[in-house]
Amino acid sequence: MAVFDASDFDAHEGVHFFTDRATGLQAIIAIHSTHLGPAAGGTRYWSYARDVDAITDALRLSRGMSYKNAMAGLPMGGGKAVVLKKAGVDKTEALLEAFGGAIDSLGGRYVTAEDVGMSDADMTVIARRTRHVSGLPVPGGAAGGNPGPSTAEGVFRGMRAAVKHKLGKDGFAGVHVAIQGLGSVGYALAEKLAAAGAKLTVADIDPARAAKAAQAFGAAAVGVDAIMRVSADVLSPCALGAGLTAETIPALDVAIVAGAANNQLATPDDGVRLHARGILYAPDYVINAGGIINVVAEYLGDGDADAVTARIAQIEGRLLDIFAESDASSTPTDRVADAMAQKLIGR
Ligand code: NAI
Repeated sequence: MAVFDASDFDAHEGVHFFTDRATGLQAIIAIHSTHLGPAAGGTRYWSYARDVDAITDALRLSRGMSYKNAMAGLPMGGGKAVVLKKAGVDKTEALLEAFGGAIDSLGGRYVTAEDVGMSDADMTVIARRTRHVSGLPVPGGAAGGNPGPSTAEGVFRGMRAAVKHKLGKDGFAGVHVAIQGLGSVGYALAEKLAAAGAKLTVADIDPARAAKAAQAFGAAAVGVDAIMRVSADVLSPCALGAGLTAETIPALDVAIVAGAANNQLATPDDGVRLHARGILYAPDYVINAGGIINVVAEYLGDGDADAVTARIAQIEGRLLDIFAESDASSTPTDRVADAMAQKLIGR
């Protein structure tokens, strides 16, 4: 494969490959930038059709973390790890310990936490071999722990900013939100929105999760394809990325897209497509920074849960600034955010 001129290679500072023959570990740690501090970003445990797809994922996600951490005002660079889920290789404690050793060998240039397929219990095992890990179980009132609820809080606040900017409404009373994906973030978000008076339509590939949300929040449950065409005020992608494409965008029937998933736009052209349709897009790495804000506070020992909540609240103002700049310059919101982030990381 092409390396330095691969389309997703963005002058990453380092891309590290690790194997451990005893446990079957195969992992990639991509460090995009340490301009603002150690590269922080979670570990994804996922099965890829081809190994090259795992490399692409690590390259894209680590770049996104540089942008996310910079825009969240964190003293951290951007990195991401991928542990390849392989047939016949279990995610054993020994494998996670070996992965902890791999992280430790980077001497603190990379700091991990949970991402898709990793739990706080997994982080505890990784922590046996390195101190460069966060998202560990913490006592009540302390910063840190599972980042999902903090991410949901940030998305809730960011969506509120989008609703205010686009619909001129203060709050969610009567606002119709379609949520795609009811996992750690999506379910917590649904709970907050329902409590704030929103009308919900939800979908999950796991029908039991959709049924649970329908019962708990009076939400309407629809199929996973239908959720992208629901007539609503807001679409909130909280499943996996790349759901906004040349095919799905023309069929959207919403005023706003605001959700937690990383890399929601399949290509940069999709930001232009949303803008051209007059759909307000809350850039993913700005609105979904609540979790990293929480785990970085834990890692740095910088403040308690209340301090974290105050930092997450700043996502609202940050998005309003992006929306205003987008309006003033007739530029898609994702491009406005990218330009701001690139300036912050010196690129
Ligand atoms: P999760 O794995 O707990 O939940 C994902 C949910 O989406 C699951 O319920 C799954 O069944 C569902 N799903 C998968 N494909 C679907 C599809 N095509 N249609 C409908 N539902 C589908 O993941 P989590 O932690 O809730 O994260 C959600 C998204 O937010 C991911 O893209 C993640 O990368 C991103 N994110 C998560 C953060 C966190 O703190 N957990 C932080 C920042 C981003």
